[in-house]
Amino acid sequence: MCGIVGFTGKQEAAPLLLDGLKKLEYRGYDSAGVAVVGQNGIQMIKTSGMIQNLCEKTQNGSLLQGFAGIGHTRWATHGAPTDVNAHPHMSNDGKFAIVHNGIIENFALLREELKQKGFVFLSETDTEVIVHLLTLYYHGDFKEAMMKTVARLEGSYAIGAVCADCPDRIFAARQFSPLILGVGIGENYFASDVTALVSHTKNVIYLEDGELAELTPGDIYLYSSTGKPIHREPTRILWDMEAAEKGGYEHFMLKEIMEQPRALKATIEPRIQNNRVVLEELEIAEETLKSVNRILITACGSAYYAGQAGKYVLEALTHIPVTTELASELRYSNPIVDEHTLLIVLSQSGETADTISALKEVKARGAKVLAIVNVVGSTIAKLADSVIYTWAGPEIAVATTKGYTTQVSVLYLFAVYCAQILQTATPQELDQMIQQILLIPQMIQRAIDLNPQIPYLAKRYHHNQSLFFIGRNVDYAVAMEGSLKLKEISYLHSEAYAAGELKHGTIALIDKDRLVVALACQEQLFDKMMSNIKEVKARGAKVLGVVPEDMRQILAEADDVLFVPKLSPMFGVPAEIVPLQLFAYYVAKENGCSIDKPRNLAKSVTVE
Ligand code: F6R
Repeated sequence: MCGIVGFTGKQEAAPLLLDGLKKLEYRGYDSAGVAVVGQNGIQMIKTSGMIQNLCEKTQNGSLLQGFAGIGHTRWATHGAPTDVNAHPHMSNDGKFAIVHNGIIENFALLREELKQKGFVFLSETDTEVIVHLLTLYYHGDFKEAMMKTVARLEGSYAIGAVCADCPDRIFAARQFSPLILGVGIGENYFASDVTALVSHTKNVIYLEDGELAELTPGDIYLYSSTGKPIHREPTRILWDMEAAEKGGYEHFMLKEIMEQPRALKATIEPRIQNNRVVLEELEIAEETLKSVNRILITACGSAYYAGQAGKYVLEALTHIPVTTELASELRYSNPIVDEHTLLIVLSQSGETADTISALKEVKARGAKVLAIVNVVGSTIAKLADSVIYTWAGPEIAVATTKGYTTQVSVLYLFAVYCAQILQTATPQELDQMIQQILLIPQMIQRAIDLNPQIPYLAKRYHHNQSLFFIGRNVDYAVAMEGSLKLKEISYLHSEAYAAGELKHGTIALIDKDRLVVALACQEQLFDKMMSNIKEVKARGAKVLGVVPEDMRQILAEADDVLFVPKLSPMFGVPAEIVPLQLFAYYVAKENGCSIDKPRNLAKSVTVE
């Protein structure tokens, strides 16, 4: 949701903090600020708007002097995105400044208590209680004040703090919100995610829930919630700088679309050995899998649509009923599950609050949990019984692309793996399936190469104020993701419908001002889709067809066409979504939208 950074070392902190915030801007970008501690106490500058505003207001950091500091980029929850509500927040006596990501659930009670003790609140945020608690509990020992403060907090937090009395020291604490420590030479860092750290160090320590970290230029000390010292060796991260930079592309989103052949190759190939799917990381025993009688998939947004797409294949290959549920609904639905249920949780970030809650709810009722996650060491990865990582690399654009396609491909691998164990497919069928899965990266590249016309189509259709995406069966799942992609980055109204449902009401909205994107990628349903296309054409709509390259009959009805390669009937989704990702991208570009950071959104939704 928000991004936080911290630095302590032997160089000016402010430019480094600003640089880290730029890397985290995708997590939230409505206001930002930095606080630096030097010999003259704490200096703080904050502002509404993007990091660029903060760079201007601080003259690229040169207005703040000191070798330790903290920074924050915000996605507003409590209080509007104003200068005053931006983080850091400073104590009334100017001794402490803090940044916070998460939500303090008991802030109202704490606020009242602190007001009665004479503390003056300047902002509308839940965060400000933390800095006043620090003042309340400080009697010359920064660590003790931190421990007593976090003991009073309920909810989720990643906190960074500085104290004017300790100009070389920064503190961090976490509870249900990511925080990673970067281990440098003569300098140390913390950040909400590794993208802000990779240009400085690849050695990181993942802070666990309830822990506190004290960072000086030369050392990092970890403590439990009771103050007991903890030793943890750093982990080496595999992502490099290039992965977190735009690499010549105008936007991260375009770069990430183009990276998909590589990301899918990295996700798929190591898991296929001697023509079998081998999931070495899977910590769910074969016997347990054999006892499963229900598979439940849960996630939010695009990850949920990945689950919708994967459901068809999982069901076909396991012969076990599969349902896909929105995590925000599942968590309150009193789900009927037991130890024979397998819950599959999909999440790029591994930090989505609703997904975490649904996971906990279902796990507590005895289900086994398999997480399919991109961010190593994330909360969901830790809570699950087993994790299969999508090796997509860092995804920076808020709208997911490679996150989604790698999630779908892991569901494919898992489905085939189950078919191997459950013997629900013949050896020949399994061989063929594995060959088709291995072809996915190539298919994605072909889907990119087949559609050089997309920027021109975007020019033709970007004025359209309302669109419908229709499809049947797995094409319907892809239509939902294509529609979400378009609306979130271009701000056009768009809805996805099962093609057969249109005539049960929604067709009333179809007229000459609508564009209908019709996905007809399944041979057995092609004629049905042609009928639906005729229905909407007869009401004046324009039709943009999406079809395999050999199904050119659609040209008789559609106004324009996006082509996909001739797809494997089962494993076609990752290639099928690509032209729709590109269409959304170019329409948003035509409309002059903020593509990587769409309005009102944030990359990792760590609040309910
Ligand atoms: C849309 C998008 C979101 C996420 C959703 C879940 O482009 O990115 O809908 O898919 O917020 O996020 P993760 O996968 O991080 O749990």
